[in-house]
Amino acid sequence: MITIKNEAQIGALKESGAILADIFRVLKDFIKPGVTPAEIDQLVRKILREKGAEPSFLGYSGYPAAVCTAVNEQVIHGIPDSTPLKEGDIIGCDIGVTYKGMISDAARTYPVGRISPEVQKLLDVTKKALMEGIAAIKPGSRVRDISKAVTAVIEPHGYGIVHSFCGHGVGFEVHEEPQIPNNYPSRGKNPRLKPGMVLAIEPMVNLGTAEVEILEDDWTVVTEDGSLSAHFEHTVVVTETGADIVTGSLD
Ligand code: MF3
Ligand code: CO
Repeated sequence: MITIKNEAQIGALKESGAILADIFRVLKDFIKPGVTPAEIDQLVRKILREKGAEPSFLGYSGYPAAVCTAVNEQVIHGIPDSTPLKEGDIIGCDIGVTYKGMISDAARTYPVGRISPEVQKLLDVTKKALMEGIAAIKPGSRVRDISKAVTAVIEPHGYGIVHSFCGHGVGFEVHEEPQIPNNYPSRGKNPRLKPGMVLAIEPMVNLGTAEVEILEDDWTVVTEDGSLSAHFEHTVVVTETGADIVTGSLD
């Protein structure tokens, strides 16, 4: 079942998303060579406490942190540790915020210091794929119209589009229906989108193969070939005319 959120719930969701947008603004300046993923996690926990919000991922299926970090070839769901970031790394930060009962979910991949043009392009293409996926939400559109728009941006570059993980409904729970694949075509349901649905759209894009594997910690997803991976995610509300982004801007 795909849940529909009412006006009050969408209001609270937007407050939750605004907190998340603030956090990303802070992280943009905080992340530099020498900083550790564990410090990022601690900082995010502190900001959430100050704002009276809660980390949605901490304890979710036993996940042990507030932020899912993903350094370089890590795709998603890495556990923040104390390894300092190095110049030229990239780090994905995926965060869920629970506020007034509503969950927003978003991710950014940040450069650490200076990165190569090749890697910057991977980040830019992944951002564009997310924004085009959101732009595909129009009256009457279906889940796979999002997948089609995301894939159309990425495919010409020959990057690997991760298909083992998807976007998803969100709001009351971290993961709700529907699943939103980033690859197209793909099998499965293709429900029509309706006003009041809340979706987390999240392309995960690899410089090399699309194939991924999970490390022995049972969480960290890495590229099978060790190539770098980028991840951007927004929470959006489907409206009568399109979609409203609740988790700020990617810049
Ligand atoms: N945003 C993440 C996703 O959609 C949620 C992570 S849940 C956690 O996959 F358990 F890993 F924290
Ligand atoms: Co998500």
